[in-house]
Amino acid sequence: AFDISKLLPSTGLVTLDSGFGNTASCKSEITYIDGDAGILRYRGYPIDDLAEKSTFLETSYLLIYGELPSEDQLADFSNKISRHTLLHEDLKRFFEGFPRDAHPMPVLSSAVSALSTFYQDALDPFNHDAVELSTVRLLAKLPTIAAYAYKKSVGQPFLYPDNSLGLVENFLRMTFGFPAEPYEVDPAFAKALDTLLILHADHEQNCSTSTVRLVGSSQANLFASVSAGINALFGPLHGGANQAVLEMLQKIQVEENGDVESFVKRVKNKEDKGARLMGFGHRVYKNYDPRAKIVKQSADEILSKLGVTDPLLDIAKALEEKALADDYFIERKLYPNVDFYTGVIYRAMGFPTKMFTVLFALGRLPGWIAHWREMINDPTTKIGRPRQVYTGATERSYVPMGDR
Ligand code: ACO
Repeated sequence: AFDISKLLPSTGLVTLDSGFGNTASCKSEITYIDGDAGILRYRGYPIDDLAEKSTFLETSYLLIYGELPSEDQLADFSNKISRHTLLHEDLKRFFEGFPRDAHPMPVLSSAVSALSTFYQDALDPFNHDAVELSTVRLLAKLPTIAAYAYKKSVGQPFLYPDNSLGLVENFLRMTFGFPAEPYEVDPAFAKALDTLLILHADHEQNCSTSTVRLVGSSQANLFASVSAGINALFGPLHGGANQAVLEMLQKIQVEENGDVESFVKRVKNKEDKGARLMGFGHRVYKNYDPRAKIVKQSADEILSKLGVTDPLLDIAKALEEKALADDYFIERKLYPNVDFYTGVIYRAMGFPTKMFTVLFALGRLPGWIAHWREMINDPTTKIGRPRQVYTGATERSYVPMGDR
């Protein structure tokens, strides 16, 4: 008979919880989610309120420092960030080494990882001033790195940041502008992107944030930890889903002639191995993702403000309607998540599909930083070191090559 105790380590009982569905890895004061009720709050403030009234910079401050800033605090924060947007010229040269068609996500994580080599003066995780400086450097430089990754992917010249502009405006100018040509930032465009960044800013112990905390628990510096988080976000089941959603909508448009019904049928009958309705389902939300609700409302508004009509938005809406009425999705409590409508908006803004996950990373950065800082400042933090249940062979004698 199978004896489970033989599989357990001698140090005592371990729990096996694949995917950590029921295992908390830490205590946190940053973000509250009630997945059944569809509630999301940053530091106690409901996401709808922040999306409507706050800015990405203010929300970043809130996540990292725990309170909404005063006018002076926000001005100081914004000032510091605008003084650190430039990349070292040597780091700029890194971009030349990547293949022309490189995906911008690994370019982003490589450049962030390389920041550890440029700022060796301020890497000590227990030095308050060093952590403050790394925080500002990272918040300031990620939009520049992201814009350079974009420029690299389309083969256009890089633009230096213009520090008279705000964070989002600066990013848009560096992304879509050309050297020596004036670029007017459309305020509606900037506001829409700012709101999307707020919606992505934190989401407690998701895969990338847990990665940042786990890597940081070894006392790895902030840049190293965030670089690992960016790589975790790249996966199609996490941040990569926004790209996957758009590709799925295009496939339905081209290959299925816009027939959402047959696509839904194929997914639920699991006809294409592993194929899922991308942008649907969530480990925590078993109700409508509150962020998806806001994105859906904004999609029409933003597209009409930008003067864009997109048949993919109609396909997305029809797909959602079909899925929400289908027993397969009802029984499994599968609702649209934040990624379902964001791709349509990013596309209307002119971003290529490959940049969608980069935009997610820009938004998630303050959350990663807040969690890394909370973890490092918590005296109860231990290095993350899960156990396992060993299921391999019991002791065996070595077999010489000639006898195998
Ligand atoms: N389409 C079709 N079926 C699905 C989907 C989906 N999108 N999501 C889950 N299911 C089904 C599974 O096949 C499974 O069915 P079964 O019991 O018949 O085998 C059941 O629902 C439970 O699914 P799990 O994989 O156990 O759910 P889990 O909590 O592990 O997965 C996840 C959550 C990864 C988000 C999943 O819903 C998924 O793959 N969604 C598509 C990718 C996506 O949109 N990711 C973005 C997540 S949000 C974010 O990172 C911002």
